Amino acid sequence: MMADVPESPFLNLAIPPHVKMIYLDHGATSFPKPQEVYELMDTFYRRAGVNPGRSGFDLCLEAGSFVDETRRLLCAFFGGTDPNRLVFGHNSTDALNLAIFGLIGKGDHVVTTHLEHNSCLRPIRTLQEDEGVEVDWVDFDDAGYVDPGEVVHRFKKNTRAVVMNHASNVIGTVQDVAPIGNACRERGIHLVLDASQSAGVVPVKMDDLGADVVCFTGHKSLMGPMGVGGMYVREGVEIRQTRAGGTGVESARRRHLERYPYRMEYGTPNLPGIAGLNAGVKWVNRLGLGAIHAHEMALWKTLRDGLSAIEGVTLHGQEPGGGERIGVLSFNVDGLEAMDTGTMLDVDSNIACRTGLHCAPMVHRHLGTDEIHGSVRFGIGPFNDREHIEKAVSAVAEIAASRRGGPVCTRV
Ligand SMILES: Cc1ncc(COP(=O)(O)O)c(C=O)c1O
Repeated sequence: MMADVPESPFLNLAIPPHVKMIYLDHGATSFPKPQEVYELMDTFYRRAGVNPGRSGFDLCLEAGSFVDETRRLLCAFFGGTDPNRLVFGHNSTDALNLAIFGLIGKGDHVVTTHLEHNSCLRPIRTLQEDEGVEVDWVDFDDAGYVDPGEVVHRFKKNTRAVVMNHASNVIGTVQDVAPIGNACRERGIHLVLDASQSAGVVPVKMDDLGADVVCFTGHKSLMGPMGVGGMYVREGVEIRQTRAGGTGVESARRRHLERYPYRMEYGTPNLPGIAGLNAGVKWVNRLGLGAIHAHEMALWKTLRDGLSAIEGVTLHGQEPGGGERIGVLSFNVDGLEAMDTGTMLDVDSNIACRTGLHCAPMVHRHLGTDEIHGSVRFGIGPFNDREHIEKAVSAVAEIAASRRGGPVCTRV
């Protein structure tokens, strides 16, 4: 029997009729979006889809004010104090690249973790290989948590930054960032936080976490569309520019403007994306992070309990207790490659999930799942309900039953 989990209280949208699948890939992107996200993207772009802040005519001013209103909205969301330090970009990969390449360079040392996504790993490795930046990698424990003391223990005289994710996109653990952030602030080290998975489900407040830069993406739990994201940069933190281009103002200047938000924004912004993000964040604010998180975690618990009772299913980093987490769960069916399990879930049960390394190869090296090409990941979202979870558990149980005693299937 399933634990008593409420139906989704958030179903204020009409799921398009062609979407018959059970969507459990919210770790990759939230889908569908709240109705108002689609509506505002459409109505705002039709009404005032002109280049914001570039000219003085009325619609242009309206578009510019709307972008600024969205800056204020997100600045408050992340506990910032200066909306101009909320800068828009394409996604968190874009923001992380700007922050990492703009803050860290030759002679510096950086501390990061084995939980990171390639959007942190690859820029850091590039700096390591091309600029000789020293890197310390901190591992996570069996429950999926990094010991904050271990991060601080790695600090050296030339430590310039700690770069880490707030919530893991593979195992869903939310890291205890505050002690790391506090230690960073005491020593003038920058904490660059990847809030891709946490923003929109758990509080992400600059000062509570001690972050200097928080990078976010619009299309996951902030419920916005793809192609918009950005970062909040704390007062006093000046990221070196690694790009330059049009800002729409002070065009006679030879170099890109140094003041925020222009300092970190290049070219025409994604106005329809910002409109969708505006509506998405307002939706999240209206429902409340607490309610969204409680709903997703009730489903996660049912899913975790259901899957862990199935013989031949191995869960990764899903120990009960421990610290905080989000509704992301990784597992494997013994004897099957993740991709094959995913195909069976899709073809036989119409369940969408993500399989493979999830752009986080070091997590899989730690788990030992790199050798079998990763894990199956279910990512729970606000529109999932108890029936979705029951069907997912039954589908995995059937796959595991069909594999028991069968030959091991490996891909080459
Ligand atoms: C932890 C983490 N960091 C970074 C990213 C990159 O997000 P985006 O592809 O939107 O830039 C993701 C997306 O999967 C993620 O889960």
